[in-house]
Amino acid sequence: MNYNIDFKEIFDHAPVEEPERQYYFMDRTRELVEMKKQYEGYAAHFMVEVMGCQMSAKDGEKLQGILERCGYTMTDNDRDSDVILFSTCTIRENANMKLYGRVGRLKHQYENRPGMIIGITGCMMQEKDEVEGIKKHYPYVKLIFGTHNVYKLAELLYAALSSGKRTIEIIDDTKMIVEDLPSDRKYKFKGSVNISYGCNNFCTYCIVPYVRGREKSRNATDILRECEKLVADGCLEVTLLGQNVNSYGNDIPGSTSFPELLAAVAEIPGMKRVRFMTSNPKDLSDELIQVIKTHPNIARHIHLPMQSGSSAVLKKMNRHYTKESYLELVRKIRTELPDVSLTTDIIVGFPGERDEDFRDTLDVVKEAHFDSAFTFIYSKRTGTPAAKMEQVPEDIVKERFDELLAAVQKSSAENEGRDLHHEVEVLVEEKNQNQDGYLTGRLSNNILVHFKGNEELIGTMQKVRLDESKGFYYFGTLC
Ligand code: SAH
Ligand code: SF4
Ligand code: F3S
Repeated sequence: MNYNIDFKEIFDHAPVEEPERQYYFMDRTRELVEMKKQYEGYAAHFMVEVMGCQMSAKDGEKLQGILERCGYTMTDNDRDSDVILFSTCTIRENANMKLYGRVGRLKHQYENRPGMIIGITGCMMQEKDEVEGIKKHYPYVKLIFGTHNVYKLAELLYAALSSGKRTIEIIDDTKMIVEDLPSDRKYKFKGSVNISYGCNNFCTYCIVPYVRGREKSRNATDILRECEKLVADGCLEVTLLGQNVNSYGNDIPGSTSFPELLAAVAEIPGMKRVRFMTSNPKDLSDELIQVIKTHPNIARHIHLPMQSGSSAVLKKMNRHYTKESYLELVRKIRTELPDVSLTTDIIVGFPGERDEDFRDTLDVVKEAHFDSAFTFIYSKRTGTPAAKMEQVPEDIVKERFDELLAAVQKSSAENEGRDLHHEVEVLVEEKNQNQDGYLTGRLSNNILVHFKGNEELIGTMQKVRLDESKGFYYFGTLC
């Protein structure tokens, strides 16, 4: 039903400036949704499913904020949803397989719910072949857009709802950053803030620079304003997000540097805890270490993705550091910030990885004493330089992967219980899923503790004594 609305006129009268244009379409969508509710029994329920990293989760919060402003209500059940959006990932092949499986299973629901809009956005939609595949094999996917136009959801949704036709818009890259759009956090007490978008590093295995575009830093004033708003809104912990936070501002002449920005965020009155992700080892500065040292509310956790311990492989990966310089950085961090937990990402089976290269990786794992590590089997990504290099046979990769996993587990076991019997400040995040009457809190160093407590404490900072170490987590008592 089109309720005698002249949709052409609505599009013709839309403001050209952003974000005004999007607010206009949010209002128009809301009006349409209200009519559909009244005359068609439209429930206007939505679900946003995040399939990727923290960037993808942040996009998910923006999608959610826009949909709420358009008059939709969030649900956690896809059978009740009139709009389902996927914020996709394409970092490894299995991420793509997961999306196809999920969308395939929605066909039946689509057939039973007329007018349902299944939409896909995110990194995977920046790949032409994937979009072609979705167009061809999943005719019931009605909305497709990419990472550069997440902010346009209201306009695109309005186009899909008003035309009843499939709406597709993919932009290759953009220099534009649209500020001041709605965003709804998953947790009231913690939030994340983009400090930069995209990546310029072109690590040879990685698809991110192709699907997220060139690095674009936000203005420090916009970032600080958003952080202040979060604090005013009850947020106790803020995570600053960038593919490489250390290169923040390099694209803006005279910009604030990342250590300066981090210090300014940490100094916002009422800011209880600040985290950041991700810091590339190639340009983590002494200044950053000093800023962390002098600000107790900056989390004692550095995620320092090493990818490989072999200087030869690191060179082929285009990572701009060596085994020695990485270890030197680890030593410096350990000396200056002894209470920091260090975590990392490691790829096994990068093209051309020889046994001796892999031994170097094991060496670094032994020496760096990581608190934990994410280990990945190299996944060939079409269009990246490494995809054309000679691949390592699968059985060898699998063997190495198992050996690495054992080494990583040994290294994190060595760190176990480092804070045992200490009294620490934790952010109480949720009810413990496995034990009634227990809550789960997060330490500054990102490790979890379970302790007895009342649900009302969720979303507050509490002092907890760590009584028992269970490896990746503790049991404790409220002080
Ligand atoms: N910007 C971050 C990484 C983002 S991607 C950084 O540079 O540290 C997250 C992790 O996915 C990477 O650290 C890497 O370990 C892994 N990864 C990226 N591309 C991959 C690929 N093609 N195969 C396997 N793992 C990959
Ligand atoms: Fe990918 Fe490298 Fe950029 Fe990280 S720094 S997103 S691994 S290209
Ligand atoms: Fe993140 Fe995956 Fe994209 S890791 S940046 S959602 S490819």
